[in-house]
Amino acid sequence: MLSEDGNVRIGTFFINFGGWFMAKDKTVFFCKECGNEFPKWMGQCPACKAWDSFEEAPAASGVQGKQRAARGKSDTAHASAPVKLSGIERGDEERVKTGIEEFDRVLGGGIVKGSLVLVGGDPGIGKSTLLLEACAMLARKKLNLLYISGEESLRQIGMRAERLGVADDDVLFLAETSLDAIEETVNRDKPDIIVIDSIQTVYREDISSSPGSISQVRETTGALMRMAKSMPVTVFIVGHVTKEGTVAGPRMLEHMVDTVLYFEGDASSPYRILRAVKNRFGSTNEVGVFEMEGDGLREVRNPSEHMLEGRPVGEPGSVIAASIEGTRPILAEVQALVSRTSFAMPRRTCLGIDVNRVNLLLAVIEKRMGVQLSGSDAYVNVTGGMKINEPALDLAVVMALLSSATDKAPAEKTVIFGEVGLTGEIRGVSRASQRVMEAQNLAYDCVIMPQVNVKDIGPHKIKVIGVGHIRELKPLLLGDRKIKT
Ligand code: TYD
Ligand code: MG
Repeated sequence: MLSEDGNVRIGTFFINFGGWFMAKDKTVFFCKECGNEFPKWMGQCPACKAWDSFEEAPAASGVQGKQRAARGKSDTAHASAPVKLSGIERGDEERVKTGIEEFDRVLGGGIVKGSLVLVGGDPGIGKSTLLLEACAMLARKKLNLLYISGEESLRQIGMRAERLGVADDDVLFLAETSLDAIEETVNRDKPDIIVIDSIQTVYREDISSSPGSISQVRETTGALMRMAKSMPVTVFIVGHVTKEGTVAGPRMLEHMVDTVLYFEGDASSPYRILRAVKNRFGSTNEVGVFEMEGDGLREVRNPSEHMLEGRPVGEPGSVIAASIEGTRPILAEVQALVSRTSFAMPRRTCLGIDVNRVNLLLAVIEKRMGVQLSGSDAYVNVTGGMKINEPALDLAVVMALLSSATDKAPAEKTVIFGEVGLTGEIRGVSRASQRVMEAQNLAYDCVIMPQVNVKDIGPHKIKVIGVGHIRELKPLLLGDRKIKT
């Protein structure tokens, strides 16, 4: 058996084969998705079940291992004594607000000094744009900013800054990919905040694998973490999410950093959502909504109004749902189209909502309401490029499907929310009163919601209809009976 230091252990004897046995560098395999380490290659990662995600890298017992061990030793050399929980100094973290409200809220109220923040997202979604705008805002607060780009030349960044109208601000730029050079500059210039765009381009010279490989990403992030904590300097790391084999997925980075923000959106829609998926300094419930325009990102303060722009009124299949994104209610339009299929297998296509959930709801409608849907195609779309993954959307989806199947429009200016169970019962959801208030504030006339939640909502002026089973939905469609408001 091979022990960690390259010795072969036989019984209780140790024989050192170090010289020739270990001459060939030992390699291990990393899963690019979850960062777990394995001694041999496998087609599927046993830890995260990702396929074809293994990458070979030198094992920790090689030269790097010794360096790592040496570093480890120096770290432990001044190991501090344990402290009692009651004896720990408390106090609020030092935060700086960027002035971009949506961004600050997602961060938990501003940027925390000495934190390491990962901003992930598909290429071209607007990560560089967001961070450049944040830098410009911070520079106006007399902070020292250093934007390090390994992706774009200074000329390109200059052109982007011009386009964003921030070219006059005092942000320092550096086109550099060597971590040593970056560390040197940071030590010399002592910036308050640095941006690394992107982690996949940064490399350490003493590691032989190419930039973007698992071992490079791991080591450079580790070094940036130490830099962030020791200086202290706030570090923003940009990480691309890509399915290509050569670039490390930032999944692995999530474990190492303080805060993980994902910037997401549909390429065809201008809306972008910034979501915190991990935050050591705040809640992960917050989202920020932006709109990409010709001259940069614009904050969307009232997403509901934007999501509902240009929606058809009084058309069958269009329903307004009240959803909660983070801690904020957002009204979104759910559209459904149910039509007789001309295929052997009916089609079920969904945008912005999970197709399995829709299949389940179709089965519930068919079984509990006796509406024949198995011979129909069903298309469901959450308009505005939003992705909603919340059970409270169920009732709106059911209503939209029913409305399209029966060709009867739901009442105008009505908002609907609630979870639907397999027996067709309508279950309560969280934050009901917030959803009702949003509908009231946006001048809607009526809310259809779970009966069990009705007693929880406070005083309201809007008409509220509590429902307990999906059977009760059909009479609420226009044509069968008009709702008196
Ligand atoms: P970018 O910030 O470069 O994306 P990332 O860093 O995530 O790869 O944004 C790229 C896209 O954004 C690009 O397709 C053009 C668009 N864009 C605008 O629409 N308006 C703008 O003002 C800017 C700077 C970019
Ligand atoms: Mg970029």
